[in-house]
Amino acid sequence: MEESQKTHYWWQKGVIYQVYPRSYQDSNGDGIGDLPGLLQRLDYLKWLGVTAVWLSPIYPSPMADFGYDISDYQGIHPLFGSLADFDTLLAEVHQRNMKLILDLVPNHTSDQHPWFLESQSSRNNPKRDWYIWHDALPDGSVPNNWLSVFGGSGWEWDEPTQQYYYHGFLKEQPDLNWRNPAVQKAMLDVMRFWLDKGVDGFRVDVMWHMIKDDQLRDNPPNPDYKPHMATYEQLLPVYSTDQPEVHDLVLQMREVLDGYSERMMIGEIYLPIHQLVAYYGINGKGAHLPFNFQLLLLPWEARQIGAAVAQYEALLPADGWPNWVLGNHDQPRITSRVGREQARVAALLLLTLRGTPTIYYGDEIGMRDVPIPFEEVQDPQGLNMPDKNLSRDPARTPMQWDASPNAGFTTGKPWLRLAGNFARENVQLQKEDPYSMLSLYKRLIALRQQEPSLMTGEYLPVYSDTQLIAYIRQAAGHARFLVVLNLSHRPGYFKSQDPSLTGVVEIATFPELEGHEVGEAINLGGDEGIIVRLD
Ligand code: GLC
Repeated sequence: MEESQKTHYWWQKGVIYQVYPRSYQDSNGDGIGDLPGLLQRLDYLKWLGVTAVWLSPIYPSPMADFGYDISDYQGIHPLFGSLADFDTLLAEVHQRNMKLILDLVPNHTSDQHPWFLESQSSRNNPKRDWYIWHDALPDGSVPNNWLSVFGGSGWEWDEPTQQYYYHGFLKEQPDLNWRNPAVQKAMLDVMRFWLDKGVDGFRVDVMWHMIKDDQLRDNPPNPDYKPHMATYEQLLPVYSTDQPEVHDLVLQMREVLDGYSERMMIGEIYLPIHQLVAYYGINGKGAHLPFNFQLLLLPWEARQIGAAVAQYEALLPADGWPNWVLGNHDQPRITSRVGREQARVAALLLLTLRGTPTIYYGDEIGMRDVPIPFEEVQDPQGLNMPDKNLSRDPARTPMQWDASPNAGFTTGKPWLRLAGNFARENVQLQKEDPYSMLSLYKRLIALRQQEPSLMTGEYLPVYSDTQLIAYIRQAAGHARFLVVLNLSHRPGYFKSQDPSLTGVVEIATFPELEGHEVGEAINLGGDEGIIVRLD
């Protein structure tokens, strides 16, 4: 059946928006965003047109890794509010016909989680095998060479019980032993707890890390390692991540979701495309959306991006639904990577490619990475490897709502400093400016949501060279669109071989181009991108 005639689910038709709750809206003056604050901003999200909100973790946590170290999977951190606040938020999201996606962190817990406290208490504790414990080698050294993503060895010595435990991230984030069926059951029960409340889906943290080589074999060295890279990159994590058995775990999670109506799962997976697509699962019974991070990782060069889109489209399994991401809380912001003008081109790309787009909060107003003085750095990744410029704080600064003190984010002292230019770059001002980034995002989302060709239609590559990418989106019986993007700052020229590609520019990075008729030959200035409604 042709794609456009199929029924599509909400997570295929919609636009996802990631909220980093600490930085979105504070309601009680403690300088940290919270759920009642987010509740006040739901009307903004509805106005913007996004259809699903993904919340980074809001659970009780010692905050060693800002909530990705969870000490209770079934509660809400008091900093963010209460379970009652959560229930209200969920009801209000649904009331607005939107969906709510929670972060699920199954790979590791906090070292303060009761499971770990029990596990650590003695070698005979029934939960000992819930985590990955191992004796020292005869000379006292670590069991193998595995490294922590956040620097140093992945093994931490536990003096009282005379064994090491494994942590792929901080030592305060011990990895669960997913080979243990009791662990599997416990985490699937966590999913049921939130699904029973009516949550629409999960973004599963580090899905490709969940299970490790059962023989704990040493990882091989990375021949491409360069000193500026994180120390973790010294080895290729072939035995500590992406093990064949992970797909059985993903299937189990999928089966839980399939017991409910229209729930979904995103997988956070940083892997090359041919490995990534395996996470769709056999017969599509894996993650609904294994996150596709190519636009985050590739150099911003038209030929490479054009080739990556083609490769991704070619390798997707038959019913695998694509998705695209420009930013998240772990990566530099798009505006800081490609510049302000190209960030507009990137918005056109994100919102016209085939597949579900995820927007990182603040990118819709072109927020930039904010320089954080060393004394103010909060992110453990930045603190642990201070010479490598790896802090994620710059991309996590408070949302810039208006020109009032602290940009309307808090009446207190913000947990992370705000961008110096928030009085000029904020939601309130950009709402009134038809040429702003915010207005561009809003129009792009609206067009995508109105036009079946853009929402769920086919993707047909037309052209790419070192500057330009061009493609068509089309669905039978609906208006077709030609997208031509100049990913460079210099003028570029596109001449189609197909005389039928004429039409009128509907949306452009430079609004002066809108309404112009275009024919076979298209001249684009630097940083120009156009969406053409074809005749
Ligand atoms: C994921 C999260 C990141 C976190 C890490 C460990 O990559 O996105 O923020 O630090 O997992 O949980």
